[in-house]
Amino acid sequence: MEVSAFPKMGLSLLNEQHDMLKGQMHSVVEALDQKEAAGVVAKRLGDLIRYVDLHFSMEEEVMASNDYPRLALHKSAHEAFRNKVRQLHESVDGSNTEIMEVLVRLLERWLENHEAGEDERLLEFMKS
Ligand SMILES: [Fe+2]
Ligand SMILES: [Fe+2]
Repeated sequence: MEVSAFPKMGLSLLNEQHDMLKGQMHSVVEALDQKEAAGVVAKRLGDLIRYVDLHFSMEEEVMASNDYPRLALHKSAHEAFRNKVRQLHESVDGSNTEIMEVLVRLLERWLENHEAGEDERLLEFMKS
């Protein structure tokens, strides 16, 4: 999918993806709360992590095509997070709900902070 250089389109795309991310995050938390089988939690977690990856790439394309001045900084925050999640995800064997719970809480907190910080700055820049 081509990301348009038109800021308004980039902005609505990012807003849509952030909503989607919240929905996916919610479905993982819900699986844990409802004490679903570890396989169910692992599957939803895997879907969420793949979506985070896709979203980061898309966000980076939007930043690049709009000459966003904080691109390098924002990208390195994504990269650090990708590495951490990858490491943790590899250590999850799909049957240990406790480790998954730790991973899910970490994802949740990091994404909330990231959205309120770097992502919010980017959205403000796109609006201006
Ligand atoms: Fe971001
Ligand atoms: Fe984002």
